[in-house]
Amino acid sequence: MFSQVIQGSGFYSKNKSEVVYLDNCLICIDDEGIIKKVVTPEDNQYSKVRMEHLLEGKLKVLGKDYILLPGFVDLHIHASQWPQAGLALDRPLEVWLQEYTFPLESKFKNIETAYKVYDEVVQTTLKNGTTTAMYFATVDEESSLLLAKLCGEKGQRGFVGKVAMDEEDSTPTYYRDKTADESISKTIEFIQRVEEVKNRYKQKVYPVVTPRFIPSCSKEALKGLAEVAHKNNAYIQSHVSEGDWEHNFVKEKTGMNDAFALDSYGLLTRKTILAHGNFLEKSDSELLSKKGTSIAHCPLSNSYFANSVLPVKRLMDQGVNIGLATDISGGYSPSMYQSIRQAAISSKMLEEGVNPGIASNKRGLKNSAITLNTAFYMVTVAGGIALSLKLGKFEEGYIFDAQIVNVRKNLPSFNQEKSKEDLLHKVLLLAEKDNITEVWVQGNRVI
Ligand code: GUN
Ligand code: FE
Repeated sequence: MFSQVIQGSGFYSKNKSEVVYLDNCLICIDDEGIIKKVVTPEDNQYSKVRMEHLLEGKLKVLGKDYILLPGFVDLHIHASQWPQAGLALDRPLEVWLQEYTFPLESKFKNIETAYKVYDEVVQTTLKNGTTTAMYFATVDEESSLLLAKLCGEKGQRGFVGKVAMDEEDSTPTYYRDKTADESISKTIEFIQRVEEVKNRYKQKVYPVVTPRFIPSCSKEALKGLAEVAHKNNAYIQSHVSEGDWEHNFVKEKTGMNDAFALDSYGLLTRKTILAHGNFLEKSDSELLSKKGTSIAHCPLSNSYFANSVLPVKRLMDQGVNIGLATDISGGYSPSMYQSIRQAAISSKMLEEGVNPGIASNKRGLKNSAITLNTAFYMVTVAGGIALSLKLGKFEEGYIFDAQIVNVRKNLPSFNQEKSKEDLLHKVLLLAEKDNITEVWVQGNRVI
């Protein structure tokens, strides 16, 4: 007997280019929220499994207008920037940080403010189908811990970082760790406090060592934080080679490209996730591939701050694992559906080029466009790979994180699809938040 059986149809990603369609299958889940078996209608156990669980009240049957998709992974989101989502995106990154972002993030010393914002962020992302999220909180430790607990209680798999930043020249006095030692000791304390509550929640929550980016951290802090991560086998998150300003700033500060500088401090591991990476050169991406470090691609944010489009295909061909992310509030939308759409659009524009004044044979960067199937892989399976968790597939041994999507709402109703895959593409491009009727994390319904 299984703890729960879900009967229905759905899609998941087989690999970077192919998807699997499950046709009226039984997904059998154990107490831990792990998929133990997927039974197809052709299997001679089908009727028996179905009937046994029906009689015990453990069978959930999806209606004919609904499909199952895996829960989405948002690999990079600044929870504390949610109040300014949709604001000030016409400013350059370095101005936006100083004039908008640091003043906002500094308000999270007030735990009431933090509670209101974080509560709304976790609820909003869950409703949009994000079952796992890797969050930047703020420099403030207490409210960062609150974010981890809110993820836990609401049933989201949260990876949460107290932001470390101590460099006097590039951070304001009112919003920084006072010294490198403070960055390090507060991070150690934060890890311990998250570890204490981690297992209270079935889906768990995880601490993340979070040096903001090289421009805002001292060398001592960066080295010390890497040591802390190694000692605790902890996840690491930061930003890398995001735009012209940041890429050149780091070159001047360290004499190296961002990726090599991060590596020199010990910050590139299999559990490191770096946002952006638009200006990674070939040797930089080779290094990431060798280290098993993943990229969080934030296509909407890149349209404003990154002065370029991430060459996803080139990096993937070099063996770099790339997931998707919203980068709230560099990106304005909390929906990973928007991230999927923008990833496909931006890559197509990179391939074709954007300046009609340039001859077509010189305009774009050949072989850059990614398919929706690739974006679907990135938002599910690749997110799991980045976090060393079995996420994104409806297969034995994978964690059952899912969204149930109504395929009649908000989509044209004229049955023009030539294949099942066409239906998936329509959902990825046209579904809205209200298409998502249920969200499940680790075998539990949370929305
Ligand atoms: N680089 C350092 N901090 C940030 C941030 O908050 N957003 C973005 N997009 N880039 C950053
Ligand atoms: Fe970011």
